[in-house]
Amino acid sequence: MAPKIAIVYYSMYGHIKQLADAELKGIKEAGGDAELFQVAETLSDDVLAKMHAPPKPTDITVLNDPAQLESFDGILFGIPTRYGNFPAQIKTFWDKSGKQWQSGSFWGKYAGLFISTGTVGGGQETTAISSMSTLVHHGFIYVPLGYKNTFADLANLDEVHGGSPWGAGTLSAGDGSRQPSALELRVATAQGKAFYETVAKAHP
Ligand SMILES: Cc1cc2nc3c(=O)[nH]c(=O)nc-3n(C[C@H](O)[C@H](O)[C@H](O)COP(=O)(O)O)c2cc1C
Repeated sequence: MAPKIAIVYYSMYGHIKQLADAELKGIKEAGGDAELFQVAETLSDDVLAKMHAPPKPTDITVLNDPAQLESFDGILFGIPTRYGNFPAQIKTFWDKSGKQWQSGSFWGKYAGLFISTGTVGGGQETTAISSMSTLVHHGFIYVPLGYKNTFADLANLDEVHGGSPWGAGTLSAGDGSRQPSALELRVATAQGKAFYETVAKAHP
């Protein structure tokens, strides 16, 4: 049976959502498919309005309960950085997963990460590193992006871009005005494809 892949993301301004769609494209190129989940919001409408956050998509399942992920073989997590770490919305999701932690429901599942930051030094790598403790506690097998399929793009110094061997990435600029570039979307698609192929080796 083909591996079951979930793409779990939080996106306040849409950058991570665009990367999530690019990851899905790569999974489909590899012959697979994935289900998208958006992590539940924790901020009030009042605060979201003050942060100029647009409405969330209504056609993507909201992830409220970690049990929703128990049937998947691999999960790609899309994370917009907060202070070099993952946002409270994602932390709140993880903090509901004590049952899965104790029972080992996520143990042996594959995980990959993709990241959005406002600035170049703002956490493309530290956000991934900060996520490791949670992944390790659950027993996820972390699949890095590495450089194998994306060396030319990740090593490109002619243009500013996000992404690292830890995972695909984009830069939103401080005011959110920058959008994912063709290079960044290409890397995200390559990650989705390679991630699917990796999980498929264990779940042919
Ligand atoms: C409270 C807060 C903290 C943030 N912290 C960082 C940070 O540490 N480094 C950084 O580069 N960007 C930071 N940002 C910018 C976000 O990472 C950026 O808005 C996000 O990557 C855009 O992705 P999205 O459109 O999917 O929400 C922060 C944004 C907010 C609202």
